Amino acid sequence: MIVCSCAMISDHDIEEAVTALRTRDPLVVLTPGLIYKYLGKRPSCGTCLPLITRLMVAYDDEDPSAQTAPARRIGAGSRPSP
Ligand code: FES
Repeated sequence: MIVCSCAMISDHDIEEAVTALRTRDPLVVLTPGLIYKYLGKRPSCGTCLPLITRLMVAYDDEDPSAQTAPARRIGAGSRPSP
């Protein structure tokens, strides 16, 4: 499915970018801008940015390698030690 018609970005492109960026740096703060940069594209109208953000978060939650990030462990119910 095409998510960004200006830059011709599909949902698969976003999934690939999230997986690659998370693998490269488990602690990276994912943003739509980072996704565009990884794909070598630029947004134009910006209409797609809310959908790209939702897909980015959804694919990031699916990525098993992200489970090793400290923020994920903290968010999973445990509390950081003082
Ligand atoms: S639809 Fe993505 S920038 Fe226009």
